[in-house]
Parts: sequence; C-alpha cells; structure tokens
Amino acid sequence: LDTISFQKDLLSWYDYEKRDLPWRKENDPYRIWVSEIMLQQTKVAAVIPYFYNFMEKFPTLLDLAEAEEDEVLKAWEGLGYYSRARNLHAAVKEVRDQYGGIVPDTEKEIKSLKGVGPYTAGAILSIAYNVPAPAVDGNVMRVLSRIFTIYDDIGKDTTRKKFEQIVRDTIAEERASDFNQAMMELGALICTPTSPACLLCPVASHCAAREEGVQEMLPVKAKK
Ligand code: ADE
Repeated sequence: LDTISFQKDLLSWYDYEKRDLPWRKENDPYRIWVSEIMLQQTKVAAVIPYFYNFMEKFPTLLDLAEAEEDEVLKAWEGLGYYSRARNLHAAVKEVRDQYGGIVPDTEKEIKSLKGVGPYTAGAILSIAYNVPAPAVDGNVMRVLSRIFTIYDDIGKDTTRKKFEQIVRDTIAEERASDFNQAMMELGALICTPTSPACLLCPVASHCAAREEGVQEMLPVKAKK
C-alpha cells in the first residue's frame, strides 16, 4: 500500500463527504465518549436523538458524575444494553475522583475505565485528543480486510490486534481523528457488508479485494 497516497485519497473524500453528526461539532472528550458508547450496539440514526437529550440533561462530565443512577438509566431508556449506561456512569465518577474530572489521554489510563475497551479507548484518544491510536470496530475490520485481502476470522481477538497494528502503520499521524472517522465513514457509506459501492469508493485504486473481485467474500467471520 502507498500509505501517503491512501491517506490523501481517504481524507480528501472525508473532508468533502462526511456526515454532519452531532458529536462531530466539538471534540470534548466527554461528548465523544458518550457518543462512542451509544454507538456500540446502536445505529447512528437511532443514537442521534438520545445523544441530544443526554447532553441536554448532562452537559458536562461532572453533571453526569453527580447524577443519580435512576436519572441516567431513564435517559438511556429505549437504547438498550443498560450495562453501557451503568458502566459509563461508574467510569465518569472514576474520572472525577481519580483524574480531577479530566478524561485521561493515555491508552493505559483510559483502558482502565469501566466499559472502555480497546475500540472505545482508541476512538476517544484519536477523536478527542488526535492521538494516533487505532480504533478498530467491525466496520473498520471490514474495510481493512478488503483493502489488504485479509482472510483471518474477524471474531478472534488476535485478528483485531492484527488490524490494530495495520492502523498504527497506516494512520495519518497529524490527522488521527479524521483518519479513524474516515475509516468508519467509509465502512458506513461505501464499503458496506453487502454490495459495497466500489465505483464510488475513494480508495478503490488501493483495494486488493477490488482488484481480485473478492470484496463480497470479505471479511471472514467463522460460525460459532
Ligand atoms: N460509529 C462508531 N463511532 C462512530 C463515529 N464517531 N462516527 C460515525 N459512526 C460511528
């Protein structure tokens, strides 16, 4: 892969085509964190109204930390997977008590927070702090498995780690936030699970799967 050319093609497309999403207006780490937790098991369109409502009720990390769990769960009602809300609430209290209310900006510290796994940690570090950390979710694995024709089972933790290393080697250091969001955006808008829109893809010329015509066979997900 010609990394520089890939970055340029991806980022130019993103600058032009990115969706105007409510959590893209500011890079407050707290807002990014809430959005990433909400987006974990829920689609963008369903998250948007909840995100607005949540930010109105709990505008800052301290507001959320001081809230009663009942109120937090009530604001989450309908989104499902309520352990996400409970973990988030516990974790912002941790940030209040251990880090003076400032979301930490190192991989080690941020991963120690309740409910913050490798993906969420990378998303917060890169999107809020522009740290060149990988944020590899299912969308990003699909995109990368196609660009590099990687047939490893994406259900395995070792495969995710392999993709994280690829991102470390490929990420635009100066534009880590945009790079990771562009990969997510590509997965959401172009490089979709079925019938990817390769004719519209800004990085089609870099894509090994496209070259070989195997884009619809990737990624590989073994049955459990
Ligand atoms: N899915 C997960 N995180 C996202 C983000 N920051 N923007 C769009 N879709 C996402």
